[in-house]
Amino acid sequence: MLSVDALNQYYGESHTLWDLHLEVPAGECTCVMGRNGVGKTTLVKAIMGEVPVASGRIRYADDVELTKRRIEDRSRLGIGYVPQGRQIFPLLSVEENLRTGLAARGDGRRGNGRRTIPERVFDLFPVLEEMKQRRGGDLSGGQQQQLAIGRALVLEPRLLILDEPGEGIQPNIVTQIGEVIRRLITEDGLTVLLVEQKLPFARKYADRFAIMDRGRPVARGEIAELSDALIREHLTV
Ligand SMILES: Nc1ncnc2c1ncn2[C@@H]1O[C@H](COP(=O)(O)OP(=O)(O)O)[C@@H](O)[C@H]1O
Ligand SMILES: [Mg+2]
Repeated sequence: MLSVDALNQYYGESHTLWDLHLEVPAGECTCVMGRNGVGKTTLVKAIMGEVPVASGRIRYADDVELTKRRIEDRSRLGIGYVPQGRQIFPLLSVEENLRTGLAARGDGRRGNGRRTIPERVFDLFPVLEEMKQRRGGDLSGGQQQQLAIGRALVLEPRLLILDEPGEGIQPNIVTQIGEVIRRLITEDGLTVLLVEQKLPFARKYADRFAIMDRGRPVARGEIAELSDALIREHLTV
């Protein structure tokens, strides 16, 4: 579904991603792991076109070279994105926040010709239906994360990218989010690229892992192969 090859990225003089490689097979959850500051968010932003890359390829759905596409193309191509820190609009209602997802196309047309929020979003997150009229900023952190995921789902993406959805959120909502990821994969056929440092969460919901260390890819495999030695070397502080 997504294939990153020999990707190099710099912030000014600072070389952040080094010959990065990542495979995200269709219909599975791939978890990118690594300590703070190793470049996980930079990788995701490079995929989303939010930071320029110096070299390398990012191939999507067999034949699309994302590095040559505009940022706005991602949503039309079926890529949904939940950024780290959620970034919902605190003064807009829940419903208005979800509608901003429908408008997330740079060419002014609506995604899939759609005007309405798919019922599926409320089916996955009943709390968003209950709180439709509340302001985004009045929700708890966990509810805001659910809203951010709901907003990414309104255009019915094929690939969903989530950057640390469990960060700073109460455990019961982290579990709910994990269950939604599982349902999106098994019931809707989505592919998920998850950035997550929480080991139990990754072990429970990911099919495969890819570890980064100081901007480089250092290990990958099926989640059952994530060994204590790898965790000690690359994940514990
Ligand atoms: N906009 C930026 N400008 C300069 N350096 C940045 C910027 N964003 C992140 N960095 C640096 O790039 C490195 C990787 O950051 P990031 O991708 O956020 O890591 P992670 O998501 O793994 O915690 C860090 O050293 C960070 O300080
Ligand atoms: Mg990050």
